[in-house]
Amino acid sequence: MTTVYLNGTYVPKAEATISPDDRGFLLADGVYEVTPFYQGVPFGLDRHLARLKAGLTWMRIDVDVDALVDVHRELITRNGLDDADRSLVYLQITRGAAPRTHYFPETDVEPTLYAFAKPWSRPANEIWARGFRAATVADRRWSRVDIKTICLLPNVLAFQEAKDAGADDAVLVRDGVAIEGAHQNFWAVFDGVAVTHPKTNHVLPGVTRGILLEEARAAGIPTEERPIQIEELRHADEMFFTGTTGEVRPISELDGRRVGTGRVGPVTQALSDVFLTRVEAVRAAGRVPAS
Ligand code: PDD
Repeated sequence: MTTVYLNGTYVPKAEATISPDDRGFLLADGVYEVTPFYQGVPFGLDRHLARLKAGLTWMRIDVDVDALVDVHRELITRNGLDDADRSLVYLQITRGAAPRTHYFPETDVEPTLYAFAKPWSRPANEIWARGFRAATVADRRWSRVDIKTICLLPNVLAFQEAKDAGADDAVLVRDGVAIEGAHQNFWAVFDGVAVTHPKTNHVLPGVTRGILLEEARAAGIPTEERPIQIEELRHADEMFFTGTTGEVRPISELDGRRVGTGRVGPVTQALSDVFLTRVEAVRAAGRVPAS
């Protein structure tokens, strides 16, 4: 039985009900986070919560984010995921339930807090090593996608367009620039340098992206944060995505054209290795029993 968290209590998922007046349901007036756990140990939880806090502040929704650390741990334990290789907690906060208006409710409304935990898995090694297919799709999102809002319609439509084209994810293109995937950050490698879009209002500042930049620097793997023109991609040696459930995910084909040699390139492999080493270090430290 799945146990979820709803507005301060843990309940069986089948018993969790939300008002049809919820502004998340009616207006997509909310934010969310997805945090990975490895054998019950959170990875980057502080960064996910910091991003959530920034989003809530910008949206003027008042919630004590620090208190949510316990909710994450509880959900993992209550759902029997303490030993799961990989699991995650999805957390969504909306402005709450109130008669529908296009402005904020005029009386105080309690935000709606909903969270659930579930396992996920990494693709089998042979599938990962084959790489994934991506397709370019127009980025039709608004100009504050650095805030992780639940308004994901453009992402859904873009992902579906990529899927319809036979690809595994989209590369969103705005003004000739490859911005990011539909739910992952995008990287390309040119002459040994791993390049990703700089942190702006047009890209989600991915936690995985940030951690990978740190690990790459520590390992002496050159990186650059700059816009990648779509024409440049013809000459990219490698491409990959990063994200919470994608980790480092090689791209072997873009719009039906082979990327580089069509196999996982050395920079992607090295970055995946340093990322997984960091994951393992965090997991091992978190699993050490108190003496
Ligand atoms: N997606 N870009 C977009 C548009 C995203 O939705 C995500 C995350 C990322 C990667 O961010 P991070 O490394 O912090 O997971 C980049 C989440 C996982 C989702 O929507 O399920």
